Amino acid sequence: MTRQPLRLAVMEAERILTKAGVDSPRVDAELLAAHVLGVERTRLPLVPLVDQSTVETLRQLVLERAKRVPLQHITGWAPMGAITVDVGPGVFVPRPETELLLEWALTALRGVANPVVVDLCTGSGVLALALANARPDAVVHAVERDTNALAWARRNADARAADGDTPIRLHSGDIADPGLLIDLDSSVDAVLCNPPYVPAGTPVQPEVGEHDPEAAVFSGADGLDAIRHVVTCAARLLRRGGVVAIEHDDSHGETAPALLIGRRVLTDVVDHLDLAGRPRFVTARRA
Ligand SMILES: C[S@@+](CC[C@H](N)C(=O)[O-])C[C@H]1O[C@@H](n2cnc3c(N)ncnc32)[C@H](O)[C@@H]1O
Repeated sequence: MTRQPLRLAVMEAERILTKAGVDSPRVDAELLAAHVLGVERTRLPLVPLVDQSTVETLRQLVLERAKRVPLQHITGWAPMGAITVDVGPGVFVPRPETELLLEWALTALRGVANPVVVDLCTGSGVLALALANARPDAVVHAVERDTNALAWARRNADARAADGDTPIRLHSGDIADPGLLIDLDSSVDAVLCNPPYVPAGTPVQPEVGEHDPEAAVFSGADGLDAIRHVVTCAARLLRRGGVVAIEHDDSHGETAPALLIGRRVLTDVVDHLDLAGRPRFVTARRA
């Protein structure tokens, strides 16, 4: 059977993805090749030659990606911390920048035994599950309003629990509900949230506009509707000294912190940059 250099197939994939306007054509080409070959991307140099059927399978997936279907919908998974979760139509694709919020939370919870953690707007369950994986002693609650997203979160939670992680507690709920998780009032060590935060009407990439659920992305005219509810919820749920971390749009570097500063019970409000130097998430502590 004829074999071809993988390098050439990846170069062709990169060319197609560049022409389609994909943001990171080389990385996506390599990740799709790794997916087809069932190896880690870093192992691709160990596969110099591939057969024609592999090249054809890769080409089909590249054409799909060129239609701006998210890479993670094609591979079926997305990473966070030390875990991966299954994703697909009907649920928000977890983004790399949310890793920063996870790392911050894990650092803040160091030295807190058996922490109670609440992940609001959990989507696929990714933050809650990554936290539970890193902190097996934690009691992790996760809240989601959308039934499709909740189904993905259930599937991921079941898979992680089957893998030996401490099970998380999934709740169908709305962050706007003043009685949400009322039994946990004043007892939570950390409230985490990556909410919808894009101002309505903001142009977005096709991957987002056509594939992420609208309610997972947009949040009112200024993009802060969900964050206002999260701040109210966190102020009620946190114990004294407990922490909150909320991801936000890069245009919210001042407005999101202002919402937390406006709460007498919250202190130590700090905004954090992402790896590109853009304002990305805000944290505070319950006074
Ligand atoms: C940006 S996605 C984040 C998902 C996940 N936390 C992540 O980082 O991948 C926001 C999620 O919030 C959910 N959501 C939006 N409004 C909500 C509300 N009022 N109450 C609860 N969940 C809500 C959406 O359905 C969506 O799954």
